Amino acid sequence: MSTPEKSIVLLRELLALDNSYIDACRLEQVNVICVDNADQKHKTMPFKTMYAGNKQFWLKNDTAEYFLSYEDFLKVEERASGIKAPVILSIANEADQAAKNDHTAQEAGAEQEINGYGQGYDFIAAMTETERASYIKESKNRLDEFIAQKQKDRQLVAEAMVESTQDAVLCNHATLMNIMNLSNDDAKKQSKDLILSTCDFVKSSSQLILENVYNEELKGALETKSNGTILQHMTRVYMNGLAFLSYYNKQVLTSSIINKLRISFKKYAPFYQNLLPHVENLTLEKVFLGGMRAIPENDFHDWVVGFLVHDIGKAAAVEYHESDAAFNREIVVEHVYVGYNAILNKTNYPRGASLIAGWHHEYYGDPSGYGSFRSLLEKHLKTNPDMKPAYCIAYDIKRMTTCEALAFFPVKMLEIVDVYDALTDPNRRYRKALAPQEALALMEEEFVRKNPKLDIILFDLFLKFMQEAN
Ligand SMILES: [Fe+2]
Ligand SMILES: [Fe+2]
Repeated sequence: MSTPEKSIVLLRELLALDNSYIDACRLEQVNVICVDNADQKHKTMPFKTMYAGNKQFWLKNDTAEYFLSYEDFLKVEERASGIKAPVILSIANEADQAAKNDHTAQEAGAEQEINGYGQGYDFIAAMTETERASYIKESKNRLDEFIAQKQKDRQLVAEAMVESTQDAVLCNHATLMNIMNLSNDDAKKQSKDLILSTCDFVKSSSQLILENVYNEELKGALETKSNGTILQHMTRVYMNGLAFLSYYNKQVLTSSIINKLRISFKKYAPFYQNLLPHVENLTLEKVFLGGMRAIPENDFHDWVVGFLVHDIGKAAAVEYHESDAAFNREIVVEHVYVGYNAILNKTNYPRGASLIAGWHHEYYGDPSGYGSFRSLLEKHLKTNPDMKPAYCIAYDIKRMTTCEALAFFPVKMLEIVDVYDALTDPNRRYRKALAPQEALALMEEEFVRKNPKLDIILFDLFLKFMQEAN
C-alpha cells in the first residue's frame, strides 16, 4: 500500500501493540491520516473525533487505512512511555471496556457513564490545571486553523466544535471541583490559565458559528455526540444560545426589526403592562432600557462564556441531577447559587457570566422561578420603596445591580434556549422528549401567554430563528 508523504506509522499495527497507545493518541490530540483504499486519496481527521464515532475505527473500516505522521507518532510514543502514567492507566481501562463491548460510541458512552459528565470525565479530571488549560488551548488552535483555512468540510468542523465544547465544559467542571474549597485568592490563581483559555476558546468558536457553522451538520453532531446529560445539555445550550444571540444581532443590524416592533408593539403591550403595572404609556423603549440594540463584541463574548458555564453549579450535586431521585426543589435551586458564587468568587470569569449562572431561572419573578436577582430586588425595594424597576430588560450590568430593570438581556435569551432544550432533551429521565414544534407550542402557551416567564418579543424572535435555522 502506498502511503501519503511522511505518514509512516500504520495505526492498526501501533494500536495492536498496547492499549496505552489509544490513550496517548487521545491525550496528545493527534490527527489521523485516512487513506481511501479505492483511490488512495487522503484526508486528515482528529483521532478523538474518529474514536468518538467508532471505538475501533482503525479495524472496522475496510474501505480505508489509517496512519499517523512520524511527528505525531513521536508524541504518542513519548506519552505512552509512561510520562503521564496515571492518566493513561485510567483511560486504558475505559478503552478496554469499550473494545470489549464492541458498541457504537454512543451506546458505549451511555453504558459506561459513571457520572453526569460521562466517560470522558475521568480523563480530564486526572489532568493538572496546566494540562487542562493547554487542552482547551489546543482545541481553540484547531478551531483557529479551520477559520484560517476556510475549512469547507462542515462535518469535520461540526464534530470538532461539539467535542471541543464538551471538553471545555468538562475542564471547567473539573477545575471548579478542585478550587471549590480553596481561598478565593488561591482559587483565582489556580484557575487563571484555564479561564483565559476558555475565554479565548469561546472567541474562536463564536467566530466559527458566526461565519458558517450553524447548520445541519452541527445539529446532527450535537444530537449524536453525547457523553452524559448535563454535559450534553450545556454543550447544546452554549451553541444554540450563541447562534440565537448572533441571529438577534443580525436581525437588529440588518433588518428593520426595531421599526417593525415599534409598529406592532400594541400586540405586546398587555404582556409588559402586566409586568410593569406602574409604568404608563409603555413603548418598546420602556421595555428595553436604552432601546433595543445590537450586542457589542465584548459583551457578546462575556455572555456566551456565561452560556457555556450556566449550569456548572450542578457539579456540586451531580449524582442528584443525574439520578431518578424525586424532585427536590432545594437541591435544584441550589445550583444557581453554587454556580454564581463559584464563578464570581473563585474565578476571574467576566462578571456577566456569574450573573447568567445566578439568574437563569428568574423567569420575570414568577413564583416557580428562583435565583439571586429576586433577593437583590427585594432588598432594594425595602430600602427604596418608591423606586420600582421602570424597564423590563437591561443590557448593562450596572443598571441591573441598581434594579432599574426586571431582567438582564442575556439571561432572557438563555432562558428561552434553556427551557427549549430541557423540553426536547431525549435524556431527561423524568419526562419524554417533546418534538420541536410541540415544545415551542407548549412554551408559548404556558410560559408566555398563561404565565409571563419568558420574554414575549424575544420568544417571537426565537420562533423566527428556529424556522430559519431549520
Ligand atoms: Fe439551570
Ligand atoms: Fe440549563
